[in-house]
Amino acid sequence: MAILGNKQEKTYDTGDLKVPVSLGVIMDGNGRWATKRHLPRSAGHRAGAENLKELCRNCGRYGVKYLTVYAFSTENWSRPEGEVDQLMKLFVEFFDRYDPELEQEGIRVRFTGDIAALPENIREVCKKGEERSKNRPKMQLIVAFNYGGRREILSSCQKIAEKVKAGEVEPSDITEQMISENLYLPDVPDPELIIRPSGELRISNFLLWECAYSEFWVSDTLWPDFGYEELTRAFRDYAKRDRRFGGLSKKESKE
Ligand code: IPE
Ligand code: IPE
Ligand code: MG
Repeated sequence: MAILGNKQEKTYDTGDLKVPVSLGVIMDGNGRWATKRHLPRSAGHRAGAENLKELCRNCGRYGVKYLTVYAFSTENWSRPEGEVDQLMKLFVEFFDRYDPELEQEGIRVRFTGDIAALPENIREVCKKGEERSKNRPKMQLIVAFNYGGRREILSSCQKIAEKVKAGEVEPSDITEQMISENLYLPDVPDPELIIRPSGELRISNFLLWECAYSEFWVSDTLWPDFGYEELTRAFRDYAKRDRRFGGLSKKESKE
């Protein structure tokens, strides 16, 4: 990082880093961030949304092509009604407020999850957001909203079952590739790296099918505080990972 007087300037030099083409981020820890500051949980969600804008900018500039962020899970409906309402409102606000900045950064927005089951105003935001950003070239921001990995696999199986019922496919001809092709966004590559801040060591139903060979990177920092330095550290650590996919490491396979 270049130091200018006391001011630290962000650089997007990828020298000793490896930047994934497809990155997943579980934006967790908003509630704890707020509680630590004696604020209502809603303040944490607001700070978390602000931080998403920052993550988009940093990932775009680093050269990530697909950034999938977990914003609301199929299990998050079990939270108190007031919190769920607030999260829905924030979702709408985020795209109203920040779309000009996303546009400036060349970021296309897409959504993944059980979108059809969401209230109409949310579905409208998704439709408009996708439509107006579809030609932006730099990076795709994929927002997982009302998303559950199991529900996504289920929905893929249901689509395939329809084809079996119509006599187009034999059950014995179903392949892994077919399941991948019937997921919500089949053109989005599986994430090479998944980052989870806030200290939890679990996947919480995020990208279950897609994460088969993802590298995991966790930190204790709560999501609203997860910034450029930590993202850079994650990419630096990722550069050192030996991805074997069940085979041997590069060094061993040369022996
Ligand atoms: C993540 O923060 C946001 C959502 C799950 C919607 P949390 O609200 O889960 O924050 P913690 O885990 O309670 O701190
Ligand atoms: C995962 O966080 C979901 C999102 C960040 C949207 P949770 O806070 O819902 O996960 P658990 O309950 O700790 O597993
Ligand atoms: Mg949480």
